[in-house]
Amino acid sequence: MAAAKIAPSMLSSDFANLAAEAERMLRLGADWLHMDVMDGHFVPNLTIGAPVIQSLRKHTKAYLDCHLMVTNPSDYVEAFGKAGASGFTFHIEVSRDNWEELIKSIKAKGMRPGVSLRPGTPVEDVFPLVEAENPVELVLIMTVEPGFGGQKFMPEMMDKVRTLRKKYPSLDIEVDGGLGPSTIDAAASAGANCIVAGSSIFGAAEPGEVMSALRKSVEVSQNKS
Ligand code: DX5
Ligand code: ZN
Repeated sequence: MAAAKIAPSMLSSDFANLAAEAERMLRLGADWLHMDVMDGHFVPNLTIGAPVIQSLRKHTKAYLDCHLMVTNPSDYVEAFGKAGASGFTFHIEVSRDNWEELIKSIKAKGMRPGVSLRPGTPVEDVFPLVEAENPVELVLIMTVEPGFGGQKFMPEMMDKVRTLRKKYPSLDIEVDGGLGPSTIDAAASAGANCIVAGSSIFGAAEPGEVMSALRKSVEVSQNKS
């Protein structure tokens, strides 16, 4: 069974105090730190790049789960590897012709490869990447249009999660966008085990309690199945 991983999205943190925010989340029970990388082209927003990952890496040993919402992910593999990224998740929509080399290069740089799908992309598109000789080790199902935190969860994406979980019982399946106490049960019962949450964690008076509630929902669903 794929273990529950709670990954606060640092996009909702105070970027001016990133190291302290990371440390606070880890102390309160985070497993991973989700790092949203946006290029202003694949999505209409700009966030962080490898220099920020490199700076943060000096302050923490945590798993840095990097989500690259960029048009040319292969241009950044080397820099993210050097910066100390742990996971490198690219989007299938921009990697249809080169995913095999991309996965190999991510692994060669010591990172864990993942693939993500926008809401409009069919889940079947990633089957070959999960079944490849050099497979991705995580599939990230976007549950909002990528680009911004604080949007509304799209429950209709749960069919994708169910399909993947049925086909791949031990795969890391991550959901991202609009997750929080009111939407976690839908995602957890569909089979998601890696939970990204930004505004619901950082906006809470007790972020640790929100993270425990997310974890508990995943574990309860897993014990039922
Ligand atoms: C959206 C990002 C998400 C975002 C989630 O493009 O990929 O990681 O920060 O934020 P919330 O949990 O607020 O929807
Ligand atoms: Zn993300």
